[in-house]
Amino acid sequence: MPAKRIDGTALAAGIKAAAARDAQKLAEQGVRPRLAVFLVGDDPASAIYVRGKEKDCAESGIESVVERLPADTSEETLLERIYAENSNPHTHGILVQLPLPKQIDESRVIEAIDPAKDVDVFTPENVGLLQIGRPFLLPCTPAGCLHMIQSTGIDLAGKEAVVVGRSNIVGKPMAALLLAQNCTVTMCHSKTRDLAAKCASADILVAAIGRAKMITGDMIKPGAVVIDVGMNRDENDKLCGDVDYATASEVAGFITPVPGGVGPMTRAMLMANTIKAAGRLSAAFGL
Ligand code: GUN
Repeated sequence: MPAKRIDGTALAAGIKAAAARDAQKLAEQGVRPRLAVFLVGDDPASAIYVRGKEKDCAESGIESVVERLPADTSEETLLERIYAENSNPHTHGILVQLPLPKQIDESRVIEAIDPAKDVDVFTPENVGLLQIGRPFLLPCTPAGCLHMIQSTGIDLAGKEAVVVGRSNIVGKPMAALLLAQNCTVTMCHSKTRDLAAKCASADILVAAIGRAKMITGDMIKPGAVVIDVGMNRDENDKLCGDVDYATASEVAGFITPVPGGVGPMTRAMLMANTIKAAGRLSAAFGL
């Protein structure tokens, strides 16, 4: 039996509707949730992602302010702009779109963001809170993936979860979230020996590698939940994931498509985080 498709667009719509309701409640208290986004340079993929975030903000009752800076912007200039948003009481979320141009040290920029406004959950403080099981906000892409996994209704406790890819944005926080759900988590990466066998042991497989169609049907355990975080172009320049959907969907129990899977969920979680940050900041300042 072919796999059931997990519809990220539909699940994301529900999360955005809830965010819009919460934004309305805040508005009634005189708080307009506001997200400041920095886009440095002219990476076409980043420009598309940022436009998507602006659209989601508009739908969720969040004011978005996108500052587009030229590719030769200095680190100092960007840091100054971040400090200004840190101290702006009307701003509740700050997001710096990655990657940044070469002359800018990504770590220094991330560390400059006020952790209370860090809606990406990238700052060392928020990463640390997640690792010790006390997160305030959940990282957007991993939280979106977990939501999709939970939408299948399967009991996660004791399940074998395999995460392929060890990035700070996806792989590492994904492993933390699955561990918090009592999965037995294996992390795979470019140096992993016998990746196919590791993948084939997974009840839950999260692919976040960045290589088109690398996970094929023969690497998947029958009935597994397969979450595809990849966003690549295939040989015909068509959008595709890290999973070969055609062969994988013959074996998996549940699978996410690309596009229409993880992408919309990531953006929906960003909306939820911005509302949550706005609620906490406005309560802290007695607004
Ligand atoms: N670039 C790719 N993914 C992300 C993300 O989740 N957040 C930010 N800020 N930049 C990204």
